[in-house]
Amino acid sequence: MDRGWGFLIGLLGAVWLLSSGHREQQPPETAAQRCFCQVSGYLDDCTCDVETIDRFNNYRLFPRLQKLLESDYFRYYKVNLKRPCPFWNDISQCGRRDCAVKPCQSDEVPDGIKSASYKYSEEANNLIEECEQAERLGAVDESLSEETQKAVLQWTKHDDSSDNFCEADDIQSPDAEYVDLLLNPERYTGYKGPDAWKIWNVIYEENCFKPQAIKRPLNPLASGQGKISENTFYSWLEGLCVEKRAFYRLISGLHASINVHLSARYLLQETWLEKKWGHNITEFQQRFDGILTEGEGPRRLKNLYFLYLIELRALSKVLPFFERPDFQLFTGNKIQDEENKMLLLEILHEIKSFPLHFDENSFFAGDKKEAHKLKEDFRLHFRNISRIMDCVGCFKCRLWGKLQTQGLGTALKILFSEKLIANMPESGPSYEFHLTRQEIVSLFNAFGRISTSVKELENFRNLLQSIH
Ligand SMILES: *[C@@H]1O[C@H](CO)[C@@H](O)[C@H](O)[C@H]1NC(C)=O
Ligand SMILES: *[C@@H]1O[C@H](CO)[C@@H](O)[C@H](O)[C@H]1NC(C)=O
Repeated sequence: MDRGWGFLIGLLGAVWLLSSGHREQQPPETAAQRCFCQVSGYLDDCTCDVETIDRFNNYRLFPRLQKLLESDYFRYYKVNLKRPCPFWNDISQCGRRDCAVKPCQSDEVPDGIKSASYKYSEEANNLIEECEQAERLGAVDESLSEETQKAVLQWTKHDDSSDNFCEADDIQSPDAEYVDLLLNPERYTGYKGPDAWKIWNVIYEENCFKPQAIKRPLNPLASGQGKISENTFYSWLEGLCVEKRAFYRLISGLHASINVHLSARYLLQETWLEKKWGHNITEFQQRFDGILTEGEGPRRLKNLYFLYLIELRALSKVLPFFERPDFQLFTGNKIQDEENKMLLLEILHEIKSFPLHFDENSFFAGDKKEAHKLKEDFRLHFRNISRIMDCVGCFKCRLWGKLQTQGLGTALKILFSEKLIANMPESGPSYEFHLTRQEIVSLFNAFGRISTSVKELENFRNLLQSIH
């Protein structure tokens, strides 16, 4: 076992100890504490604590990263949202299946059966409303200005392809289109319930290395169904090889991050004049409050920080690739492209300077047979998860799901390629290690989402404190 794995074991072990150590404690008092009191202090005994991450992210990284992500290079992402779901046929999009039921208005129903059917049509009405809302809010705005359309034709010349962690999203397909991420923010869409549940379930159940013998659903949303005791579940997780556990934690962190966004950009009010989006504390508490979630919430938040650290580390490792003089953030506007590259490098240097990086060791980078096998396992599972994203019924959720899995996949590709990056020529083409525009855009946008989540946690912490 090389130093890299040893390090990872240390990190995970410390996090695990931290979470189990708190399990016996009395429930803390305030709403804010119930979400956050267990999410503080050291994530790892030698280096990283949550407060340092918060300060570093919220004040130094987040503002600059936002600026970068608003630039043309990063706001347009090419994606094929029309690929069929490879695993099942019945993606119940609203208006297709359940929601196609058109219930009677209560005055159309004869009095005699009204009392019996009233409840049904009420429910059905609500369902339709919910679905219509999900469809409207989930729609992707595909409009691009003519100028942009011309520009992107040029960008494609700068695209490249290579083998990847994620299903290369056949961006050559005529169905693939550029979408403007700024026009399509990730926010509450009303896409929840059985369909959304099924997606996460398949991801956790079939793609997180779960052995057949474990009956308890891995999906944290599934509490109460086929439950085995929490201790059995967590001792199983502890028994897993550390890298597979890391995989589970990354997925859980991604899930948590998405839920933070949905709670922070909740559709609070809708009138014919405007829609009002904002923080919904109740929604946040339902997903992260230690008591309401039977202890799961704080764990999810810790996994979010774990994901943050992994992506942060990948970004610090990939700096040499972007530093090469040949590399450009090509959009055709020379001055702006250069400015953006400077901003990008500034951000990456800032990331590299993060004081508590676990930077000394290689991680996921052993050249042993075992490590190779593991890398392959990770890659297969990851590709699978990105294909599952084609089964997401809500298009906007599909867009962000695909982008974030591709971004995380790119981060893993970087961590697994440490040696290749180290051997990269200082100038000229790099054949051994390369990132496509798609990978670069998804990597930074995905990290931008996690960075936003960490920032939003501060907002929720303040909001929760203010209601007490
Ligand atoms: C906040 O979310 C909860 C569900 O968690 C919902 O019942 C409530 O209506 C939402 N509040 C607002 C103001 O939309
Ligand atoms: C891929 O996902 C499908 C559907 O969830 C599952 O049946 C299959 O076992 C998965 N394969 C891998 C390698 O994870």
